[in-house]
Amino acid sequence: MKFHGFLGALALGAALALPAFADENPAIEQRQGQFKLYVHNFGVLGGMAQGRIDYDADLAQIAADNLFHLTRHDQSRLWPEGTDSASVTGTRANPAIWENLDDFVAKFGALQGAAEGLQQVAGGGLDAMRAGFGPVGQSCQACHESYRDEAS
Ligand code: HEC
Repeated sequence: MKFHGFLGALALGAALALPAFADENPAIEQRQGQFKLYVHNFGVLGGMAQGRIDYDADLAQIAADNLFHLTRHDQSRLWPEGTDSASVTGTRANPAIWENLDDFVAKFGALQGAAEGLQQVAGGGLDAMRAGFGPVGQSCQACHESYRDEAS
């Protein structure tokens, strides 16, 4: 299982009666920081895929390696119950996450699979990198459409 201890951690989070403000719950800032690091790598690959940045095999491979490893970060303590946007301020995590945990976990799994595919091809030329990049972008988007609130 790629999502070790996810449900157990949620139960623990509930038992600890988490505070009502995002600032007091570091998991929210930490998971947002994780996504910022995704973008740090996803952005350069997207720039190359769209022709805004010249393709550079070494840079593409480094970014894809980073993204692969970032998507291996265990999520079990990043999504405690009570940290949804209906319960606290400062997060765009829709409450639907906690009502559809299996699907949320599966969507993370899809990202992990796509990031692995991209890692295998990113340094192999622009066309190969583009083909690997598409499924990664789709996996980000699929989860955001279901589980991330619109930016306010
Ligand atoms: C399984 C679901 C899921 C996947 C896959 C996913 N995201 Fe997200 N993302 C979220 C959720 C939920 C939030 C809102 C988190 C919060 O505000 O607490 C978010 C927030 C973000 C943010 C805003 C972070 C901030 O500063 O507040 C960015 C940027 C982002 N995601 C980029 C990405 C990129 C790029 C990918 C793909 C490489 C990706 N996400 C894949 C669910 C996902």
